[in-house]
Amino acid sequence: MTTGMDAVRQSFGRPDGFPRHVAIIMDGNGRWARARGLPRVEGHRRGLQTLREIVRHAGDVGLECLTLYSFSSENWSRPAEEVRELMGLLKIFIRRDLAELDRAGVRVRVVGERAGLAADIAGLLDEAETTTAANTGLTLVVAFNYGARNEIARAVRALARDVAAGRLAPEAIDEAAIGRRLDTADMPDPDLIIRTSGEQRLSNFLLWQAAYSEFLFVPTYWPDFSAAEFDRAIDEYLGRERRFGGLKAGVGV
Ligand code: IPE
Ligand code: IPE
Ligand code: MG
Repeated sequence: MTTGMDAVRQSFGRPDGFPRHVAIIMDGNGRWARARGLPRVEGHRRGLQTLREIVRHAGDVGLECLTLYSFSSENWSRPAEEVRELMGLLKIFIRRDLAELDRAGVRVRVVGERAGLAADIAGLLDEAETTTAANTGLTLVVAFNYGARNEIARAVRALARDVAAGRLAPEAIDEAAIGRRLDTADMPDPDLIIRTSGEQRLSNFLLWQAAYSEFLFVPTYWPDFSAAEFDRAIDEYLGRERRFGGLKAGVGV
């Protein structure tokens, strides 16, 4: 039997301690723009440039998995004009960058609710995943129209359907069974979650997966974030001591 603790251990860390999975809440585009007297959309445009730089760098340092929170299930409540701009930037990113990502061996995965998305957006997300499915380099996970509570609700609904159809016994629902129904099934849990812009909250990001993640909150607005700052974040992570509820080796009676 796999206990919860085994599952936690299995999903974290390489022997050398380098993180397998880094997730970033890319925040502060609007404030970056406001500080310069620019419209918020300009912050989002600059944010896309940072995103490109960080994806390239993550591939260069041999990271296994990078998740980027790019649009939350709550971001629809922003002014229509801003939502339109963010959708436009997603389309630009996939149309212009997909070939290069593919050449670089990046495998794109998208997490978040797909139902109800505009057909052109849904088509591009599918295309990005299909085109790069066989790649073996960095896995780039784009969290788009993503909300962790929505993801968990969809997983629970899928399990309930299986139980109702007689395909699954309620007793078989354990942590692993839930994990397999999440959008992140078969991805390692994030070792490190970075949030830029100084805000210190998760904003509905990876609530289940972050059970034992390390957190790093940096004051930098996302458009000013850089490869050098990413490296400093990894260094800070490498100095942390993760315990998973147990004790450090060598400590105890
Ligand atoms: C992050 O920047 C981008 C998205 C949430 C899409 P924000 O747009 O949230 O920028 P701030 O937080 O208003 O500065
Ligand atoms: C979280 O940032 C979502 C993304 C970065 C895509 P928000 O700016 O939407 O979060 P809140 O509203 O400040 O919590
Ligand atoms: Mg924000």
